[in-house]
Amino acid sequence: MWDPQTYLAYADERTRPARDLLAAIDVEKPARVVDLGCGTGTSTRLLARRWPDADVLGTDSSPEMIAAAQAEPAEPGAAACRYEVADAYSWAPGEPVDVWFSNAMLQWLPGHLDRLPGWLRTVAPGGVLAFQVPGNFESPSHVLLREVTRSPAWRDRLAGIPERREAVESPARYADVLAAAGARPDVWETTYLHRLDGPDPVLRWTTGTALRPVLAVLGEDSEARAAFLAEYGAALRAAYPPNDAGTVTFPFRRIFVVARIPA
Ligand SMILES: C[S@@+](CC[C@H](N)C(=O)[O-])C[C@H]1O[C@@H](n2cnc3c(N)ncnc32)[C@H](O)[C@@H]1O
Repeated sequence: MWDPQTYLAYADERTRPARDLLAAIDVEKPARVVDLGCGTGTSTRLLARRWPDADVLGTDSSPEMIAAAQAEPAEPGAAACRYEVADAYSWAPGEPVDVWFSNAMLQWLPGHLDRLPGWLRTVAPGGVLAFQVPGNFESPSHVLLREVTRSPAWRDRLAGIPERREAVESPARYADVLAAAGARPDVWETTYLHRLDGPDPVLRWTTGTALRPVLAVLGEDSEARAAFLAEYGAALRAAYPPNDAGTVTFPFRRIFVVARIPA
């Protein structure tokens, strides 16, 4: 269901939060680093560059994403990345890891808050559990998607798609749960102002992420896909008008968590 090519559009904007998360991790020489929900390996390769002597493993539940990650050549001076198809709910390391990293994945895992204490137990003393999730489920792009999906024209056909309003927790909740589990959490949020160009850039952005469940249900029905994209695209154009130069400013809130396990 994940499409590597579509997700890689806007690669710079999507990588920025991973870089900002990585910059806040102060582990000097980790032996074992894991990137859960590694996708095409963009985030994994950042880890491999930062820690060239580490064993760096990327895991993802999508075989297509893992195949795309494995197709990337090894980078000189970076750790050689290993990749595995694995569900983050069930994957566990053979030995504790020093860096448990996840960029833009936990929002797809209902109930992930309850899993945090268990995941923390897979981190070695002195290590870090770090993740970033979008915090934009009340932004116009998501609200409009819910409105169109639930409108009379579409609600029967798209009835099975979850609303995903509760996909992430508040920053304070993450901090409380991680502190109660024995970690020292550093939690913050950032709103990026992405500058997007070209025709229907917000529609293009969401095609790689929030729209995927809708497109998966509509499948090969090209007429229905075109009709849905036309309706949602028109709503997005009204909500995110371009400036005179044709550029759309797209605010995107994200939540960051770095939880340190005392040595
Ligand atoms: C938005 S992409 C992020 C990819 C990568 N971390 C990055 O920063 O470019 C989310 C990824 O989470 C993966 N994913 C979704 N649910 C998952 C699960 N239950 N276990 C493992 N990976 C999952 C998807 O296959 C997808 O590759």
